[in-house]
Amino acid sequence: MINQEHLFITGFMGAGKTTVGKLLSEQLKIPVIDTDLYIERIKNKKVSEIFQEDGEAKFRDLETESLQEICKQNQAIITTGGGIILREQNRQLMKQQGKVIFLYCDIEETTRRLAKDNSRPLFNADLEENKKRFEARLPLYREADYVIDTTSKTVEQIVEEIVSCL
Ligand code: S3P
Repeated sequence: MINQEHLFITGFMGAGKTTVGKLLSEQLKIPVIDTDLYIERIKNKKVSEIFQEDGEAKFRDLETESLQEICKQNQAIITTGGGIILREQNRQLMKQQGKVIFLYCDIEETTRRLAKDNSRPLFNADLEENKKRFEARLPLYREADYVIDTTSKTVEQIVEEIVSCL
């Protein structure tokens, strides 16, 4: 990894981006910034409230603005919301500003993991609905520099794999 390059962690909801980002940050001694938390802090609102009160389009604008601001900061591990890859502008910016790591996770596994979670407005407990969204996004996620299959792996194993490919 080139000094000062950011590391972007992408992947579908429930893929473990935040958990992996935290451990990776400890190991590499690089700070971690989460785009959803960044948005929640500047807006003083939960992501779910932004979706509900302002709509998805507004959230996507905030997401792009936040990504742009975060990229201007010192080298960081940037854990992203699952939909960050939807805008070409975001995908291009991430590629220009560092390395993109896609955490692939089996959709059945993520649907099970999130079944009781109601903090994610776009998560659908129905496997088929979730699968549709996941499959539509997959080619965009796959534009990443590295694809790590996280299915049945521990966080430690995932982090080790990431470190070994940097
Ligand atoms: C979204 C994923 C969420 C959050 C928002 C939209 C998505 O982040 O940004 O609810 O479109 O996949 P996580 O991937 O951290 O759940």
